[in-house]
Amino acid sequence: MNITFRQLKIFEAVARHLSYTRASEELHLTQPAVSMQIKQLEHSIGLPLFEQLGKKVYLTEAGREFNRYCAAISAQMDELGQVVDELKGLQRGRLTIAVATTANYFVPRLLATFCRQHGDVKVSLDVTNREQLLRALVENRTDLVIMGQPPAELDLVAEQFMENPLVVIAPPGHALAGERRIPLRRLHEETFMVREQGSGTRSAVERFFTASNMALSTPMEMSSNEAIKQGVEAGLGLGIVSLHTLAMELALRRLVILDVLKFPIMRYWYIVYREGKRLSQVAQAFREFVLREAGELLELPPV
Ligand code: PGA
Repeated sequence: MNITFRQLKIFEAVARHLSYTRASEELHLTQPAVSMQIKQLEHSIGLPLFEQLGKKVYLTEAGREFNRYCAAISAQMDELGQVVDELKGLQRGRLTIAVATTANYFVPRLLATFCRQHGDVKVSLDVTNREQLLRALVENRTDLVIMGQPPAELDLVAEQFMENPLVVIAPPGHALAGERRIPLRRLHEETFMVREQGSGTRSAVERFFTASNMALSTPMEMSSNEAIKQGVEAGLGLGIVSLHTLAMELALRRLVILDVLKFPIMRYWYIVYREGKRLSQVAQAFREFVLREAGELLELPPV
């Protein structure tokens, strides 16, 4: 039997409409072209598939059998098309992610490894603070978010993948640098720079000191970790930042971590998406990659 997919498609349309005219309209072909293809098909299999009684077209017994297989073949072809689209999606897909300002210190490294493994992935990365991230999730403007633990009342799936210790930083010449087991109360005498309202680091620090019945002197609010680190280096005061932000300053001895009791404040990183969201192939692959490999790929400096 020598039959083509084009003939199957034409047969399927005629069998569905039981009309050559309507099939040819649907397929944007002329009626003689449709009749010719059906004739060739009947010739190939050696049996008539349709019979015409008066003006009406009927399927013959062979036509009905043929129709059954035709439906199964076209369902398989549709499925194959979807699989191919999904594969294309993975190789040429766009990954839209939004990450907390602090997570930007390690996310580019994750993306670099992921893109090397997955070829032609286009990435759109939005770096913003926690409050904006929650808004992006609620408004469905992003596939995935990397942030601290999101609030339980939102319908989100949040999977924890790595530690995020917050530490107290000082310039190397500070009076407390090198001291061991500094009591928390001692921080009372110091001035602190804190992150802006809406930052996850800021709210974790506030929760920690409220739980310890302490208020810090925080005359300076800075909208980025970089600004806090620069301020601490310049002697404006102390800061509390994620250990993830400090690799360079610690290696170059531009900043030191103070050994304060009850520190670090231990937070965790989560990969987050809206419950019920249909993640694209590429987003799903990135999610799995982060859960599987982030912990090993990213080494934290020692506290
Ligand atoms: P942020 O981030 O302080 O940069 O907002 C981290 C978080 O969500 O904990």
